[in-house]
Amino acid sequence: MNYENSYCQAAPKRDSSLKNPLNLINHGSDILYLNGFCANQGLTGMIQTDYIGDLSKQVGEEVTLRGWLSHKRSSGKIQFLMLRDGTGVCQCVVMKNAVDEASYALANELTQESTFAVTGKVQEAKGKAPGDVELFVSKLETISIATDYPITPKEHGIEYLMQHRHLWLRHSRPWATMKIRDTIIWAIREFFHERDFICFDSPILTPNAAEGTSTLFETKYFDEGMAYLSQSGQLYGEAGAMAFGKVYVFGPTFRAERSKTKRHINEFWMVEPEVAFMDLEGDMELAEQFIHYVIGKVLAERLAELGTLDENSGRLEARCRSILKPFVRMHYDEAAKILDTYWDEKLASGDPLPPTFKRFEYGDDFGAYDEIALTSLYDVPVIVHHYPAAVKAFYMKRDPNEPDKALAMDVLFPEFGEIIGGSQREDDLTQLQARLVEHRLPESVFEWYLDLRRYGSVPHAGFGLGLERLVMWVCDLEHIREAIPFPRTLTRIWP
Ligand code: 4AD
Ligand code: MG
Repeated sequence: MNYENSYCQAAPKRDSSLKNPLNLINHGSDILYLNGFCANQGLTGMIQTDYIGDLSKQVGEEVTLRGWLSHKRSSGKIQFLMLRDGTGVCQCVVMKNAVDEASYALANELTQESTFAVTGKVQEAKGKAPGDVELFVSKLETISIATDYPITPKEHGIEYLMQHRHLWLRHSRPWATMKIRDTIIWAIREFFHERDFICFDSPILTPNAAEGTSTLFETKYFDEGMAYLSQSGQLYGEAGAMAFGKVYVFGPTFRAERSKTKRHINEFWMVEPEVAFMDLEGDMELAEQFIHYVIGKVLAERLAELGTLDENSGRLEARCRSILKPFVRMHYDEAAKILDTYWDEKLASGDPLPPTFKRFEYGDDFGAYDEIALTSLYDVPVIVHHYPAAVKAFYMKRDPNEPDKALAMDVLFPEFGEIIGGSQREDDLTQLQARLVEHRLPESVFEWYLDLRRYGSVPHAGFGLGLERLVMWVCDLEHIREAIPFPRTLTRIWP
């Protein structure tokens, strides 16, 4: 058979109302699985067709579920098996007199994270089981028995859990977080796609720095010298904007920062729109609309997951809703004044300050404490613009009316800090060449970038949003390492 052709066909939509909808196409002797996965653990031809996430629509029907045992309890001649299949958790009721002896014995043997298949009837269980439904089991088969699963119901420290991240992802908090991350990723793509932005992938291996030379991961690149893992796709995004008008780069970025803060990881995902004929004002507008759209999607699709993460019922949802309003916009000078007063009062109050605290001085970039202090005064994000050019990147355009200020902006989230950084770009060739010299960047590797100013330069702007920072804020995570499946930090490259 011709696999290539069959892959071109759209997969038929799974219809859970059909009995035995195996969703596989039989091409003579070749069986091609579409939709669903093949949990082929010695049980040939088996494929997942029923999912816990759909059970509320299947009350009264017989289904077969497959998954992992998250925990169980028993009472007399009834066992309650909590089955997890990735789409949810289902209470499976195994009554001694309703199943064959073998099934009852197998249920007894199941340990935490053992895998099994159960067939039974879906019945309502309002207030008694997750999702208000449960499965009344008629048959049970074991797939694999797990012994000594390392994450038990007792409390484990974060380091232990991170060391077992490959397993910890099965548990409710990381599970809810990753579902929210998925929704955010789709919302990001939808937002730009709906507005006719082209998805424009930038290279990971690059010949030059984009965001300063101090945080580059480097590797030897054949006979071409050194290559660096991309710190940002922006410079390539600018080439894209000159070709397509509106583009967004969305990919992994790398920073070799020896930073141990809760907001830094060494590998993170960044989405970077870049738009021709857009200025700083337009950039701020785009950022605000974008955040509203993405948070709106989280609220529309992930209230249950927000609830799972919420220790204080409704707080995370309320926090998301509270920022669906116009953001505060503020010139750097105004923010600096507010911070001056804030820290003067704080120091005078005698309140203890963290040992790493450094008093902000006019002209500095904001530190984490400054961002948290400033945003604690508002309940919506604050967009600070016109930062001192001296503390910002070489590619940012200076304001002709305030030459010491860059046409830059950061979106700072309430009591959190920077999630977006962006700017209008320097579009004048001579100015840009001067910036490269000031920043001690070798002009030769930026020749292609300078060409964008030589051949049809236009005003343009863009920004970068750190995906994990946004996930961290939405989920109210203690540390950014929980916002990505497998975090890379100064001390962690395992698992
Ligand atoms: O402010 P940054 O460094 O800006 C840029 O890279 C620009 N080239 C973006 C652009 O204009 N296209 O990074 C942008 C965002 C930050 O606001 C933050 O959310 C995230 O990327 N970020 C990090 N996230 C996690 N860990 C780190 N080490 C991060 N560094 C930046
Ligand atoms: Mg920044």
